Amino acid sequence: MAKLKRTYFCTSCGYETPKWLGRCPACNEWNTITEHVVAKESQSSRIASVPKAQPRKVQDIEELATRRIDLGNKEINRVLGGGLVPGSLVLLGGEPGIGKSTLSLQLALGDNGLRTLYVSGEESAEQIKMRANRIGIANSECTVYPETLLENIVAQIEDIRPDVVVIDSIQTMHTDTVESSAGSVTQIRECAATLLHAAKSLGTAIFIIGHITKDGTIAGPKILEHIVDVVLQFEGDSNNTYRILRGIKNRFGATYEIGVFEMHDNGLTAVENPSEILLSHYDMPLSGISVGAVVDGLRPYLIEVQALVSGAAYGTPQRSTTGFDHRRLSMLLAVLEKRVGMKMFQKDVFLNFAGGFKIADTGMDLAVVAAIISSYYDRPLREGVCCAGEIGLSGEVRPAPRTEQRIGEAARLGFKRIVVSSFVEKTIKRPKGIEVVFISSIEQLPAAVMQE
Ligand code: TYD
Ligand code: MG
Repeated sequence: MAKLKRTYFCTSCGYETPKWLGRCPACNEWNTITEHVVAKESQSSRIASVPKAQPRKVQDIEELATRRIDLGNKEINRVLGGGLVPGSLVLLGGEPGIGKSTLSLQLALGDNGLRTLYVSGEESAEQIKMRANRIGIANSECTVYPETLLENIVAQIEDIRPDVVVIDSIQTMHTDTVESSAGSVTQIRECAATLLHAAKSLGTAIFIIGHITKDGTIAGPKILEHIVDVVLQFEGDSNNTYRILRGIKNRFGATYEIGVFEMHDNGLTAVENPSEILLSHYDMPLSGISVGAVVDGLRPYLIEVQALVSGAAYGTPQRSTTGFDHRRLSMLLAVLEKRVGMKMFQKDVFLNFAGGFKIADTGMDLAVVAAIISSYYDRPLREGVCCAGEIGLSGEVRPAPRTEQRIGEAARLGFKRIVVSSFVEKTIKRPKGIEVVFISSIEQLPAAVMQE
């Protein structure tokens, strides 16, 4: 009979404690600590099987030439830092329905010359086949395995010896060594530890799919972040077709790369030039529309901002934003009111970004304010203008990080004028074909972006 060990975990952040607590000391949530029973023997037996390492001088260690597996998908290779490292464990997190299964099945089915194993705990082989037909099957070495018991899965990995394994999803997997139900913190941890062992000992790269909850905290998968080598997050608005794959952690490379995808009937396609789809082409200039030059990760792109400013029908004006921080909008409106004298307190303000994108880049401030000014006066902005800059509380315009790259992208897309902070006037290179207008305060913005 296995000796039982009890332990307590926070279901919100994965904090472990030897005794029950009402409030988690790590994330301060109440009532999230739950009891889990761990079979002690299984743990010690796994630890004992790990070979002992010896301390060595750093100069005596031979460098490992990290081979990279080309997954046959440029965007994913890029986010992984140039391809997948054999034997690495990758966590792919995202909200349900965002396209994690589609993306990983597409990798498994792609024409990449790899032997792949797609394990699904959520769908039957027939359901996977239906999906595979939609996506297109280009890899004859792809095996599909509907299974949830981890011991069986590891046995198949040892047997098939794939280059890449997908586990869809970690919340549906369970192992016999612990007695709690699938999806519990103990199960997730045990399964991940076993998969880690399999990945390292067999040199197979494993993608673990983890569902995350609406509020953005990866409940369950959060506790895996320190075990795995790479954490990728798949995000987007499920009402829209665009998705961003973001590297959050990468032991083999940098994390600032992003991949942009579009969901079609036949799976996800890479969007190499996000700017081209995020800008609309109107026959007639419209008020309330501006364009901002954003940098996400290392990727510069241009995105359209739409604002609607209208008289508040009720006492308290409404402020509604999609994809932009609500508090930042309130701040920008307050600055506009104080510095430019626009009467924003009587106005409803609605703000939108193209493609359902969420943008946390403060370099979008100028574009947001430009759209608001345009809608407020009901006058379209001048043709071919875009902005990149941050606005401070006193109305000063600060430079957006990587301003030069933003200017370069605007020039590439044929914009005629870009408005940026005067802080960088002396230091940046100005490409040909675009007029760079430097402003130091928000009062100068209307003249810089409006038609004469
Ligand atoms: P899915 O990959 O199942 O999401 P997740 O695994 O993250 O929960 O995909 C979800 C949505 O994608 C689903 O609503 C259907 C849609 N979809 C397409 O639009 N085109 C396709 O080719 C496929 C396979 C799915
Ligand atoms: Mg799925």
